Amino acid sequence: MKYTHNNNELRIKDINKKVGLRGWVSRKRNLGGLIFIDLRDMHGITQLVVAPENENYETAQMLRNEYVIEVEGKVIERVSKNKNMPTGDIEIEVIKLNLLSKAENPPMIIQNETDALEEFRLKYRYLDLRRPVQQNYLIKRSQIVQSIRTSLINNGFLEIETPILSKSTPEGARDYLVPSRLHEGEFYALPQSPQIYKQLLMISGFEKYYQIAKCFRDEDLRSDRQPEFTQVDIEGAFVSEEDIFKYIEDLFYNLFKDVMKMEIEVPFLKMKYDDAISKYGSDKPEMRFANLIESYNYLIREDIPLFNGVDHVRGIVFENAQSITRRVIDSLTEVVKKNHGDALAFIRHNGSEVTGSIAKFLNEDDLAKINLEKDEILFLVPGKYENVSKALGALRLEVAKLLDLIPENDYKFLWVTDWPLLEYDSEEERFYAAHHPFTAPKSVEDLKNNPKEVRARAYDIVLNGYEVGGGSIRIHNQDVQQLMFETLGLSNEDIKERFGFFVEALKYGTPPHGGIALGLDRIVMILTNTTNIRDVIAFPKTQNARDIMNQSPSSVELEQLEELHIKVSKNEKN
Ligand code: AMO
Repeated sequence: MKYTHNNNELRIKDINKKVGLRGWVSRKRNLGGLIFIDLRDMHGITQLVVAPENENYETAQMLRNEYVIEVEGKVIERVSKNKNMPTGDIEIEVIKLNLLSKAENPPMIIQNETDALEEFRLKYRYLDLRRPVQQNYLIKRSQIVQSIRTSLINNGFLEIETPILSKSTPEGARDYLVPSRLHEGEFYALPQSPQIYKQLLMISGFEKYYQIAKCFRDEDLRSDRQPEFTQVDIEGAFVSEEDIFKYIEDLFYNLFKDVMKMEIEVPFLKMKYDDAISKYGSDKPEMRFANLIESYNYLIREDIPLFNGVDHVRGIVFENAQSITRRVIDSLTEVVKKNHGDALAFIRHNGSEVTGSIAKFLNEDDLAKINLEKDEILFLVPGKYENVSKALGALRLEVAKLLDLIPENDYKFLWVTDWPLLEYDSEEERFYAAHHPFTAPKSVEDLKNNPKEVRARAYDIVLNGYEVGGGSIRIHNQDVQQLMFETLGLSNEDIKERFGFFVEALKYGTPPHGGIALGLDRIVMILTNTTNIRDVIAFPKTQNARDIMNQSPSSVELEQLEELHIKVSKNEKN
């Protein structure tokens, strides 16, 4: 049979055409002898009708859901049209029908609406992926990748692959290790990112590199984190921050134009890290609504017991807060406490007076300064600056959800700049690289003399409150790189063992360079309007890093372990 159209193509203008279609039986009904079949493929659904006099009527009768068929027929106008279907004005009067494959009764319904639990859907992922909603996630993912590739290629970037069997990289999560058979007791590490390789490619003279790269990190999983994920990894030689911003803004501008059919505003807003923490209580501010954090330090007084002697009191005002009841405030207190806040106080204006947990301690002056209007509520958190800010940042997002403050189909980008270069661990009394140890300091003097305050030439790109990418201008001078390693407390042996080849490479003429990596899965997730990263990955891992479908990870044969020179010591419980 000749295949002519997919199942989302035929319209009223095609009436009387002879066509060939194929796909899966999505639904079958028998109405007064006529058999109606919804034929589904990855594009959509077309209705078929088989009359009793058709030579294939018997085959049509025995069809069940998920059988695979091909048909030849004539496009006719439907008597009762379905306005909800793109092909709803027509149907196909079947002339010939071929059964290509039978199907067992599927364990889940192949429809957008399903009550199957996610675990079950992941077990039968190949069926789950037949559901149109799931297909659309991956179709859009492919369009997104295509658009990104085109933008980068048009800007002169070369696509270069780098190894998966590799050595530990410096992103700081736990590595996935691969034992070597040929080299007893030695291991490859799967790359947490291609960071070192892309910098080496700059040293090699490839001035603009990109790669759609698989990365592997053994870290605690969340709804926006997978152990195996994909980066759009980018690096350029002789670039400044502004060049990287421009490439990425171009990329997103084209992406929204191509895939979302929307024009976004470029250049993106920029905000310093310190301002993000101070105003939004987050290093990835959600910019789709306002409600900023402000200081209420003038309330640190003996006569307000909760605030007496604390370092900071900071707060946020929300309007139209009638629906925030006492019970809601109790649950918000939990949110604050989970996010390092000590306590949550509030006052509200109910139209005639100001009430709330600390209202009775406030004088006329305080009330005038706070200046609450009808139906507004002010939340206040006392404590240390960082903790208070982060707790209020979490509260801000939670209240926004409750009050429905976040508009859908709105996309707000932000560059977060001027990150701290180092993080100080006061228990271990040592510094860690906030980004990775190849990030250039804004000032080498500060790195030498004031490492707690030194800022990085690093930037994150934030979209709707998600970190969708991060990068930096790198250190290209070996003395500065040495100083950085020393500040991190790495001994010469450590440096040699972990990054020796890289430090060596820096000696042979390293161009100034910098780059960024975008989290592809997160971008697809936001653009397809889901909050679950697993939705946009064909075969994802569960929250505890398992593939339920193929049961990996799984134990292996003893011989395999012996070949790899590995002995597994089972813990006693097993
Ligand atoms: P970073 O570690 O910030 O930078 O990673 C870049 C982006 O990758 C995404 N991402 C993840 N997505 C899903 N699951 C994960 N487990 C996960 N971890 C990270 C995020 C993040 O912004 N080599 C540097 C980049 C550079 O400096 O050029 C790097 O990997 O969206």
